[in-house]
Amino acid sequence: MKFGYFDDKQREYVITDPKTPYPWINYLGNEDFFSLISNTAGGYTFYKDAKFRRLTRYRYNNVPTDAGGRYFYIKDGDTAWSPGWKPMKTQLDKYECRHGMNYTSIEGVKDGVSAKALFFVPLKTWAEVQKLTLTNNSNEVKKLKIFSFTEWALWNAAADMENFQRNFSTGEVEIEDSVLYHKTEYKERRNHYAYYSVNAPIQGFDTDRETFFGLYNGFHEPQVVEAGKPGMSIAHGWSPIASHYFEVELKPGEAKDYVFVLGYVENKDEEKWESKNIINKTKAKETIAKFNTVEKVDTALAELRMYWDNLLSIYRVDSGEEKLDRMVNIWNQYQCMITFCFSRSASYFESGIGRGMGFRDSNQDLIGFVHQIPERARERIIDIASTQFPDGGCYHQYQPLTKKGNNDIGGGFNDDPMWLILGTTSYIKETGDFSILDEMVPFDNDMSIARTLFDHLSVSFDHVINNLGPHGLPLIGRADWNDCLNLNCFSNDPNESYQTTENQSKGSKAESLMIAGLFVVYGNDFIKLCKRVGNKAEAKRCQKHVDEMVAAVKKHGWDGEWFLRAYDYFGNKIGSNENEEGKIFIESNGWCSMAGIGKEEGLIEKALDSVKERLDCEHGIVLNNPAFTKYYIEYGEISSYPPGYKENAGIFCHNNPWIMIGETVIGRGDEAWEYFKKICPSYLEDVSELHRTEPYVYSQMIAGKDAFKPGEAKNSWLTGTASWNFYTITQYILGIQPDYDGLKIEPCIPKDWKGFNVTRKFRGATYKIKVINENAVCKGVSKVIIDGKEHSSNILPIFADGNTHTVEIVM
Ligand code: BGC
Ligand code: NOJ
Repeated sequence: MKFGYFDDKQREYVITDPKTPYPWINYLGNEDFFSLISNTAGGYTFYKDAKFRRLTRYRYNNVPTDAGGRYFYIKDGDTAWSPGWKPMKTQLDKYECRHGMNYTSIEGVKDGVSAKALFFVPLKTWAEVQKLTLTNNSNEVKKLKIFSFTEWALWNAAADMENFQRNFSTGEVEIEDSVLYHKTEYKERRNHYAYYSVNAPIQGFDTDRETFFGLYNGFHEPQVVEAGKPGMSIAHGWSPIASHYFEVELKPGEAKDYVFVLGYVENKDEEKWESKNIINKTKAKETIAKFNTVEKVDTALAELRMYWDNLLSIYRVDSGEEKLDRMVNIWNQYQCMITFCFSRSASYFESGIGRGMGFRDSNQDLIGFVHQIPERARERIIDIASTQFPDGGCYHQYQPLTKKGNNDIGGGFNDDPMWLILGTTSYIKETGDFSILDEMVPFDNDMSIARTLFDHLSVSFDHVINNLGPHGLPLIGRADWNDCLNLNCFSNDPNESYQTTENQSKGSKAESLMIAGLFVVYGNDFIKLCKRVGNKAEAKRCQKHVDEMVAAVKKHGWDGEWFLRAYDYFGNKIGSNENEEGKIFIESNGWCSMAGIGKEEGLIEKALDSVKERLDCEHGIVLNNPAFTKYYIEYGEISSYPPGYKENAGIFCHNNPWIMIGETVIGRGDEAWEYFKKICPSYLEDVSELHRTEPYVYSQMIAGKDAFKPGEAKNSWLTGTASWNFYTITQYILGIQPDYDGLKIEPCIPKDWKGFNVTRKFRGATYKIKVINENAVCKGVSKVIIDGKEHSSNILPIFADGNTHTVEIVM
């Protein structure tokens, strides 16, 4: 069953039933100021950091779900309704929500009145702009009463939900004309406030939540709306809100627009006050003035649309597969931008207070984003590398506001360093900007011990070889990519965090075959980079270690039919046929295949056949099999999950592409494509009821074959799944790969594909690539024709001439 449809021309997903199987959300803003918005206008707003600068309040895991947002209440006679159906939940005559690229519009129609609310964060603006259009399509004059509503959060989202003994006494507001200001704590250490304005005179307002709703009422029964009269309340402590009240008269056929601005201001210390205890409103007024007419708002929206036109013109496929094209050309790239902005901080599954930017996560996010805005990718790489330790280890996370490593979680995840090589080389391959390697980058944010970024990559490499276990394989530390394989944790205390506890690590023999494969892939990448920059000595030194790792994997990492997953603390095998549960895992088989380890001996083919046989199912590839049915103290969190969920045999969509790429290594395009389709959201639109999460973005997990409800997805939006699937489809299946000296073309597609077209902007030229597969093969380029002339290799040269070049690739 579907709850809407794709409108590819507008680049929108159109939701036609407000009761989606879960709130289906969108993100507004893509630089400093952000909002989450659901299809019923729930969600919240923050500046840069969802934890430290939460502007509006939201209640996770509430009853009913999705509580808090920016709401409009419309009172027409005795009927009160909301354009997004919620919170009033009055039956609407029509409902439509359009989620587009960083904007959302929600329209409700009731008794001849249409209310259409458009929400977006204009480029370079610290505010969410809302345009409310009211249209009278009836034959009578309509007298409407409009109440806006949003609830302020007291800045620190964690304290906001915790420290009530203080919070209930601190709230402060100011009201001037049609602007409601929120200034809690501005007097003391804060130099910021928020505001909510409307570009029309108001006949009233409320800023105190209790007055607006009544103490015992929910979002769907505000007492002022019921009474048809604002409370004129001025908040002192308790819970400050912002609600405008105004009356509108509409003749038949008449329409009126109102522009609301929900914004954030920072003032310098010496400019904080206008007069004693009266905040300096200059900056707020400047922003409000920028959007005080419909024309200005429409222009800003047009600019935002153009911005996305541009971004999405860099990689475009025309494959003849509608569902594929809309993912590659629109939604997958969009999701990559979102994961780039938020890492794993704020979604409907990530509370915005738990996690900042992940070291490994943000590096991986780069591979789906770097072609869009390389300058921002560059800055990100430097930020991430700045949180590395001198020995190559890294803070696992950092806070975006301070850009400092997060001490609560610390380091010790031994895969982390290798991802920096992926992030950096991806950037250089896209841009050709080798100068990034010469940037002086601090360790642990301490500039006095800065080294070049190249040196950071070098210590990343060394961190693995300096931490090898008894089989010459990488020690796992707290965990590798699989945060839940906690082999040194041994936790029997439910109050301990699996992520930060190492009850037994001294003398540990716990080694990871996933890191081994990862090391070979990015070790080789680093060697290639060393050669490319003329550092032969470093290349030679590293080659020796990579070769040794390959040998160690072949000797100690092969189980007969597939690659082992790990050795535990005691040196026992994990992911072996000898084990009772968890005989085979996806990660090591993905990475060792991607690394090409044992390709000549047929190991990869064997491993991938085993994956197909034991891990593949109708909904995707599960992480391990058989699922763990009891708690293994020596394995940690992985065995804490019920079978079929999350890291315990869930379909962890992030790692499925590793198998797809593995398949392309041995040229099996049909298999790679089948796996791709199974988890690709646009292909799952028809089963939205089962899948539950948005059909336009990837979710982190789909419940696996052992689960209670196989096929049900969770954790949509903020997942490495976005970038890995984009990277895989565009670079390994369609096979258009940026490389240091050109654009390498190496498709690996299903045999029965006749071909496809890709337009790729790369290093200052546009490549119009036509791939022809009349020979019905999966892989292998036999002829390359550029601008009518045959070219001797499948690496297209860098033209950098601003022109368009036509390329024909015969497979
Ligand atoms: C989850 C992992 C996640 C980790 C982060 C675990 O509970 O299962 O997917 O990476 O928490 O701390
Ligand atoms: C989600 C985390 O964000 C990521 O870092 C981790 O690799 C996966 N979970 C797998 O555990």
